[in-house]
Amino acid sequence: MINYVRSEEAVPYVDKKDFCGNNRRVYIETYGCQMNVSDTEIAWSVLQSHGFCQASNIRDSDVILLMTCSIREGAEQKIWNRLNFLKSLKLARQKLRSARLPPVKIGILGCMAERLKTRLLEQHKMVDVVCGPDAYRDLPRLLAITDTGQSAVNVQLSIDETYADISPVRTDANMTSAFVSIMRGCNNMCSYCIVPFTRGRERSRPVDSIVEEVKRLSDEGYKEVTLLGQNVNSYRDTSALSFPAVRPSSSSSSSSCAHLSAGFHTVYRHQSGGLRFADLLSRVADVNPQMRVRFTSPHPKDFPDDLLYVIRDKSNVCRHIHLPAQSGSTRVLSAMRRGYTADAYNDLVSHIRHIIPDVSLSSDFIAGFCGETESDHEMTLDLIRRVKYNFVYCFPYSMRQKTRAAHHLVDDVSCDVKRRRHEELVDTFRLCSLQLNQSLIGQHRVVLIDQVSKRSVDAMAGRTESNVRVIVPQAQIPTSSSSSSLRYIQPGDYVVAQIKDATSQVMTGTVLHHTTLTGDTPS
Ligand code: 5AD
Ligand code: SF4
Repeated sequence: MINYVRSEEAVPYVDKKDFCGNNRRVYIETYGCQMNVSDTEIAWSVLQSHGFCQASNIRDSDVILLMTCSIREGAEQKIWNRLNFLKSLKLARQKLRSARLPPVKIGILGCMAERLKTRLLEQHKMVDVVCGPDAYRDLPRLLAITDTGQSAVNVQLSIDETYADISPVRTDANMTSAFVSIMRGCNNMCSYCIVPFTRGRERSRPVDSIVEEVKRLSDEGYKEVTLLGQNVNSYRDTSALSFPAVRPSSSSSSSSCAHLSAGFHTVYRHQSGGLRFADLLSRVADVNPQMRVRFTSPHPKDFPDDLLYVIRDKSNVCRHIHLPAQSGSTRVLSAMRRGYTADAYNDLVSHIRHIIPDVSLSSDFIAGFCGETESDHEMTLDLIRRVKYNFVYCFPYSMRQKTRAAHHLVDDVSCDVKRRRHEELVDTFRLCSLQLNQSLIGQHRVVLIDQVSKRSVDAMAGRTESNVRVIVPQAQIPTSSSSSSLRYIQPGDYVVAQIKDATSQVMTGTVLHHTTLTGDTPS
C-alpha cells in the first residue's frame, strides 16, 4: 500500500515517538550537482537529529537513500541502473537476515523523486520512500511509515522552505572548502530545463542565517566558501523587518527592466525590496578576509554594477564568474527562453571585463537544442573562441517531459549530430583553455592548497583564484616572502606558485613561499 503524504500535519499515520531512528544505519549516495551534495548534508542533519547514524558501507546499512538528479535522461538512467543493483542487494539481505529484523529500506530523494512521484514506486517495487527536495524534514516520519509495511511519499513543494535553521552535516573529508546553500528553486523557466518543476519556486535563505553558517565554517578552519543555488544572483532576502516584503511591480509579466543587466529580460514579474546578492556577497566576504568566497550558479541577467564592484573590490571574493551562455545563437537563445540575445551576452562580457579586467569566466553550453542548425552551432563555437573561457561545461540536449521545449518544440537534432557538436564544443574550449593556461607559464599565482595530489603523495594540489587546478611538489617553504623559517605545505594553506607547465585542465608549478590573501605573514 502506498501512503501518499501531503504534509506532516495532514495525516498522523505514525506516532511521533516512532520517528526515532534507534541508531539505524543509513547510507546515502549522492548523484548530480553540488546542490544535491548540499541537500544530502541537510538530510543527514535531519536524520542524525532523529537518532539515525551513518553506515560505514552500503552492505552494512539498514536504510539506503539515493539523492537523485533529473536534469538529463542519462542522470536518471544511472539511478534506474543503481536500483536494479539495490534490488538484488535487498533480496540477498532479506534471505540472510533473521525474520525479526526489518528489511533494508530504499528511498529516492531529490529531483527524480519530485519528477516521478508515485511512479517510482509503481515502476520499482523495491522503493519504499519517495521524498522531494522540500520534504527532507519529513524523512524520519516517512521512514517510520515504512516500518508498518507501507511505502511513503512526500513530494510537496514549498514556497518558503530554505532549511535555514538546519546545520548541514558535512561528510566531505575536505576541510578546506565548503558549499553554503543560499537559495532554492528557480523562476526562470528556460524552455529546456526541468529544475523549476523539480525544485519549485525561487526562495532565498535569510542573510543572517547564511552569515552565521559562514562564521561557523571560518571558526572551524575552512578557507573557502561557495555560495550555492540554482540562480544565486537573483537572491533577495525580504525576511528582515527593515526590508519590506516582495512587491511584484504592476508592470507586465515579462519585462525588460532597469534592475537587470542591459539587454536582459525575464518571464516572471519583477520583484523589489529586500537585500540583494551584492549585499549578501559583501557581508559574507567580511566574515573573514582570509576566506575565499565563490558563488555558483548565477544567471547572466542579474549582474548589476554594484555586484561587479563587490567582486572587484573585496580581495577575498574570487574574480571568477560562471556566466552560463547555453548558446551563441540569438535564434536558439530565444527558443531556449533565456531572456537575452547573443549581442546582449557579448556586451555583458565586455562590461564585466571593463569593470574587472582580470576576471576569469566559465560557462555552460547545450549542444543540439531543438532547431539548432550548423550555423547556430558555429556561432556557439565562435563565442567560446572569442570569450576565452577558462572552463566550459557542455551537455548534449536531453528532452525533459513537462518543459516548454517538450510541449512546443521538436527535438530534431539527431543523437549523432548532438554528439559531434558536443565534442566540437569541448575540443574548442580545450584549445582555448590550453592557450590561456600556457600563457601563465612563468607567472606567479596564489594557490589555495586543498589536498594531497591524487597522482603522488609527494605533491599537493590546490586551486587558483580562477579555479584552475595546480599541482606543486610537497616542500618546506618560507612562511612568507620575507621569512627564513620554513614549513611544509598543508591543506588550507595559501602558497605562491610559479607556473611551470600547463594542460587545458591543470597546471604544475614550483612553490615559492606561504602567503595570505592580504599578502602578509600567515599567523
Ligand atoms: N539538456 C541538456 N543540458 C541541460 N541543462 C539543463 N537542462 C538541460 C537539458 N534538458 C544544462 C544547462 C544548465 C546546466 C546545469 O545543465 O547547461 O546550465
Ligand atoms: Fe534551469 Fe534556466 Fe533555472 Fe538554470 S536558470 S535552473 S537552466 S530554468
